[in-house]
Amino acid sequence: MDWGMKNRISKLINPKTGHAVWLAIDHGYFLGPVKRLEKPGEIAGPLLPYVEAMMLTRGVLRNCIDANTPVPVILRVSGGNSIVGEDLSKETIVVSMEEAIRLNVSAVAFSIYVGGRYEHQTLVGLSNLVNEAQRYGMPVLAVTAVGKELGKRDARYLSLACRIAAELGAQMVKTYYCQDFGKVVEYSPIPLVVAGGPKLKTELDALKLAHDALQEGAVGVDMGRNIWQSDNSLAMIQAIRHIVHDNASVAEAEELFNSLKR
Ligand code: 5RP
Repeated sequence: MDWGMKNRISKLINPKTGHAVWLAIDHGYFLGPVKRLEKPGEIAGPLLPYVEAMMLTRGVLRNCIDANTPVPVILRVSGGNSIVGEDLSKETIVVSMEEAIRLNVSAVAFSIYVGGRYEHQTLVGLSNLVNEAQRYGMPVLAVTAVGKELGKRDARYLSLACRIAAELGAQMVKTYYCQDFGKVVEYSPIPLVVAGGPKLKTELDALKLAHDALQEGAVGVDMGRNIWQSDNSLAMIQAIRHIVHDNASVAEAEELFNSLKR
């Protein structure tokens, strides 16, 4: 791996622990104004000291995030779809590599919809992005999107999607936690991070998800709603960090969460 690529990845995956906490605030690219993310800069600002990186779109980066931030950026470069559009999988590259470099980002992110109506378009899009990114030492994060079909989140489907992302050249893959997640990890030759998905009933559920994913081999989390939709988002991000970087148990993370909440 080239020096530039390695160096960028070292900003995203903490070399001391081999793990990563990323804050995902890119949801608006197809969902518009999501609850609690109406003002992304205000919600993300206090959380940023606790993350290795933030994942977002160029519009939110330019308009809502202070350029003096030391926190690396994972830039979402796929889009062109919306929650009310024809089909969520109709997504393609919408940001150039030149723009990603101008914004000084540490990685670019692209969604693939394996089994979706526009599967081919997204897989070729990922391959084209990798071809271009490789020239500049820019890591590519593939996101195994499931669209509205959350039921697709089983180990068989996710290992298929993650493996295809790796085979097409992505350096990292973001996927969902599922039963038998260890199998998804086993068949992926690249590091995996998990999304949190829609807000779970309790913070404890989200802590458990992060803990189990890490125990089964994820290198970290790229979480959004289960952090910033919590009434105690600051306590939540620190509890998640405790799990990811300190190998804390669910009980230890919960204890930290409760003490910070107070
Ligand atoms: C949307 C994304 C989100 O970044 C991802 O889903 C993470 O956020 P959450 O934890 O809220 O699911 O990639 O396609």
